[in-house]
Amino acid sequence: MARSALLGSSLTKKYWMALTGLFLCLFLVIHLAGNLQLLDASPEGRLKFNAYARFMTTFPVIKVVSYLLYFSILFHAFDGILLAVQNRQARPTRYVKEKPSANRTWYSGQMALLGSLLLVFIVLHMKHFWYEMHWGGLPLDSEGNTDLFTVVAEAYRQPLYVVLYVASMAVLAFHLLHGFQSAFQSLGLNHPRYTPIIKNVGVFFGVVVPILFALIPVWMFAFPG
Ligand code: HEM
Repeated sequence: MARSALLGSSLTKKYWMALTGLFLCLFLVIHLAGNLQLLDASPEGRLKFNAYARFMTTFPVIKVVSYLLYFSILFHAFDGILLAVQNRQARPTRYVKEKPSANRTWYSGQMALLGSLLLVFIVLHMKHFWYEMHWGGLPLDSEGNTDLFTVVAEAYRQPLYVVLYVASMAVLAFHLLHGFQSAFQSLGLNHPRYTPIIKNVGVFFGVVVPILFALIPVWMFAFPG
């Protein structure tokens, strides 16, 4: 295969990785804002969360965006694994170890592994909540909405579930610590003034978002309400 063709195709892949990765970052913020409502375990808080969950699963525009999201996750995962295989085939000798770079961290070299762990988490998470919400035949609350709050609260009463959730958020943190700023590089958005700012925003995003996600099951475990 011609070298330029290989390079060309892997550049296109990186471009799509960046676009889908940033779209997933945007989704994380929206998902987090919704999930933070779980911190309010009062009777009104529970009803509010269930009403929100109903809105998010039935409002037509959000449904369309959700399908785009499912597609993006699959595309990003498939593309990412292909890229990792392609990179490995392109350099059978592991010269990277002999050429350490100041910008290289252990997690930047483990994106495919971190992503694959995230994929396992996403599948289990969707089975547990998304599938149950849609087809689980869950009981309804006093306002006639599916009582998703109770399902979530029961899950986070189990220590193993909380530990696995927190560990998955650590995996997400490392994926984002490299991924966020890498996406801008892949899109060719390099600027002497803005690149350092993007790197700092990436570190903030990669630390704060996973910590806030992880806080929710820990809080619900500690204060079952
Ligand atoms: C919440 C879920 C996820 C988010 C927010 C996310 C975000 C990102 C971002 C922003 C990048 C940087 C793209 C670039 O360098 O241009 C990236 C890279 C990557 N992601 Fe994800 N990702 C997620 C899930 C996954 C999953 C499920 C996989 C499955 C394998 C995966 C595999 C990868 C790989 C292999 C790369 C590195 C690509 C490369 O530069 O060689 N990610 N991710």
